[in-house]
This record gives sequence, structure tokens and C-alpha cells, in this order.
Amino acid sequence: MEIIKAKHSGFCFGVKRAIDMVNKLLKEKDGPIYTIGPIIHNGEVVTLLQDKGVIPVDDIRSIKKGTVVYRTHGILKEEEEYLKSKRLRVVDATCPLVKKVRQEAVKLRKNGYKVVIVGDKNHQEVKSILSYIENDGIVIDDPQEVKGKKIGVVSQTTQSRELLKKVVDRLLEGPQEVRIVNTICEAVELRLREALKMAEIADAMIVVGGKESSNTKKLYKAIKEVRARSYHIEHECELNPSWFKGIHVVGLTGGTSTPDFLIDRIFYGIKSLCGGKDGGDS
Ligand code: F3S
Repeated sequence: MEIIKAKHSGFCFGVKRAIDMVNKLLKEKDGPIYTIGPIIHNGEVVTLLQDKGVIPVDDIRSIKKGTVVYRTHGILKEEEEYLKSKRLRVVDATCPLVKKVRQEAVKLRKNGYKVVIVGDKNHQEVKSILSYIENDGIVIDDPQEVKGKKIGVVSQTTQSRELLKKVVDRLLEGPQEVRIVNTICEAVELRLREALKMAEIADAMIVVGGKESSNTKKLYKAIKEVRARSYHIEHECELNPSWFKGIHVVGLTGGTSTPDFLIDRIFYGIKSLCGGKDGGDS
């Protein structure tokens, strides 16, 4: 059996940047380090950092001293203001592309547009964008009519281009002015494009990443539509030998918050289960 590993998989630059920032802080050994919620959506990485002393907290009011690192998907405007008012040391690890979505949303609102965010209303990034426009926006995850003379559209960075297109097509049916700022992250699209190509030639696909990771879930969902024999796992212990019965080629990829070491462990896990040969990068 041949195992093909995706070239574009694992940490994106925004996640790499955030982890580097935390590692740099750890070297300083200057008091406790907190993150607001998990810094990225990968349980294994969060646990590893926790073992080194990086504490994820849900209630920022419980932080009395130390350094607070903003997660890659951004924090709420009111959280940022609170931390500043308490004069706590902050390190902003928000991905610059997420910040760009927020800035574009603020600009649209300032110019009189009703802001539409194409995304998941429960995702931290979307909550962060909304908070920066004083919650004066609409979050949608399916095509629908939106009232208003001027509509400005931005998208959650991990959103699919197909959905964005469908939402925009629907909005263009209305009489209003529609302005679209494409804020989908290229790293997500690259992974998706490559994985879909792999899924066409592989007999089975393994997608590695946190079960809470929005981009990994979307990657898996899209792959599953092309290759029914696809599996989303977080750890090598979830690998099941029955998945590889009668299989000649298996494709392996991971979401943007999945560390390379985890993808490698799963690669060797498949190899030891099935004696697969390395098909190299796709
Ligand atoms: Fe940033 Fe794109 Fe990664 S938005 S955190 S580079 S998936």
C-alpha cells in the first residue's frame, strides 16, 4: 500500500507564528502565561503548552498578573479593553489575516454598509469580528435575503469559497448595492484544493486534526464527498486496520492547526499497521 502525504498540510503561518510567540515567552521565564481559551484548536498542542506552564482560561477576570496571549482567531474587543484597563502585559498572537477581516468589517460599517459575515456564529473568529463592529452585523451560513440599501460582505477566514459565492449570488438578486471583500484564507484553500485532488486518486483518505477545528472539519467534509472512505482522526490510536483492507493508495492530510509531528506520527502509524510504502509528498 502506498501512503501519499499532502505537501500543503499542517500548521499555517498564522498558527506557526502564534506558537513561536508563546515559545519565545516561555524562554523569558517571566511569570505565568495565559491564553484566552485555547490558543489554537488542537488539543494535543494545547496540552503540551499547558505542561510547560501556558494556562488557557475562560474568565479573563481571574487573571491578576502575568502575560496574556491572544489566540489566533482573535479575542473580543471588550476583552482587549478590559486587559488594557488592568494594565496586564498582552501579546497579540491574532493571525494578521483575521485582523484584516476585522479591519475590513469596521471600514464597511464606517462607510454605511450593513455588514454581513459569512461564517459560523459560534466560532471565536466570527464573535471577534462582530465585537469590533459593536455587534452591528449579520452572521449567515446559508444564502438568504438581507435587508438594507448597502450590504458589505466579509467572510470567516476558514469559510468555503462555494458558500461565499452562493451567499453573494443570493444577495445580488436583491436591489441593493453589494460590496464583497474576499477574506478567505489562502492557506485553507491550498489545503483543500490539494486534498481534493488526492481524494480522487486515493482509495481512502485520512484527515488529521482537532475535532473542534473548523477548518479541519470543513476539509474532512469536502473530502468525504469525493471519497466516502475518509476518516477524521486526532491521534494515531484511532487508526483502525479495517479501514485499509483492500486499499492500494491512502492519502494523508491535516488542517491548519495540526502540527507536522502529529501528521508524521499518523503516517508511521498507518505504515506499521499495513506495511505501507512511502508515496512521498503529493
Ligand atoms: Fe491565519 Fe489562515 Fe491560519 S487565517 S490562522 S493563516 S488558517
